[in-house]
Amino acid sequence: MANPAAELFVTDRTVPDKERLELTPAIQLSATDKADFGRRPLVAKHNLHQSGLFTDAALIDLLDHFPRQHLYALTMGNDLMRSEDNRLALHEGVSGAELLRAVKNGRLWLNITRVDRANARYRALIDQLYTQLAAQVPGFSPVASQGTLLVSSPHALVYYHADGPASALWHIRGRKRIWIYPALDERFIRRELLEDIFAGVRHEYLPYEHAYDQAAVVYDLEPGQWATWPQNAPHRVTNLDSVNVSLSTEHFTRQSRWRARVYCANRFFRTRLGLRNLSARESGPAAAMKTVIHRLANKAGLDPLRIKRHAPSMRVDPDAPEGVVALGAIRGSTRAGD
Ligand SMILES: [Fe+2]
Repeated sequence: MANPAAELFVTDRTVPDKERLELTPAIQLSATDKADFGRRPLVAKHNLHQSGLFTDAALIDLLDHFPRQHLYALTMGNDLMRSEDNRLALHEGVSGAELLRAVKNGRLWLNITRVDRANARYRALIDQLYTQLAAQVPGFSPVASQGTLLVSSPHALVYYHADGPASALWHIRGRKRIWIYPALDERFIRRELLEDIFAGVRHEYLPYEHAYDQAAVVYDLEPGQWATWPQNAPHRVTNLDSVNVSLSTEHFTRQSRWRARVYCANRFFRTRLGLRNLSARESGPAAAMKTVIHRLANKAGLDPLRIKRHAPSMRVDPDAPEGVVALGAIRGSTRAGD
């Protein structure tokens, strides 16, 4: 049934045209989901799939105007245990229409990161989503939010991983399956790996075993559904037989920021002073003291971090069977990577 809120239009004349949304985002959460938000995986409804922001034409326009240094094209293998098969592909000189064609015909994933910073309509959309969430969920008070638009091929996958910030996945086009695993559970993610993820010194990918799936909550997401889970819960995604468009949002609360500070502090004490198994408690005098010492050490340059980044090894080619070719590979008369 059509959501009545989808019929509403923003009529406030003070909203600049570039921020004006033709659709008012609407979130439907059951009473149980409101109570459990952030505490367990859940799936609920939204209406973003009715917005004009996610049509092919809108995506092409977005890609053509998007700052390319914040756009990541990634391809992947089929073995869930080999996240090293995830490869970054260059895309300079590839138009928005060609990128979309590569996604439709190949097997890749476009991460349009911080789309909220590059486009005022997405910023407005995410703001409205979180305003609604804060109004509906008792005690939920985000201090910041951000978003990445995900456009991906049929059968593409995202390997088993955990994100530092709390997140939600708003599914808009196509069908995808998501597996969500228990959060902060040493059987699924070692504490030290999560510390490294918070510090940004390792990729989010984690060692994976098929047996983990017995503990997973699995959702098949349709357009108009969104899923969320406890902060840091490992998860993985496989697209079904269609091109997928989803908006991934991350939100920050006072508590989530404390968690990040405590994990980064614990990593500092582990790597610099050899102190292991420090408490991960996010409140109390010990947490406060550790984070203050870490902040001071940071200022003094005692915790230098080498931020981990993917190195490109492929190039997007909309005419290649997989949508990408290896850098240096020659296809026809064009030398890829030039
Ligand atoms: Fe994720």
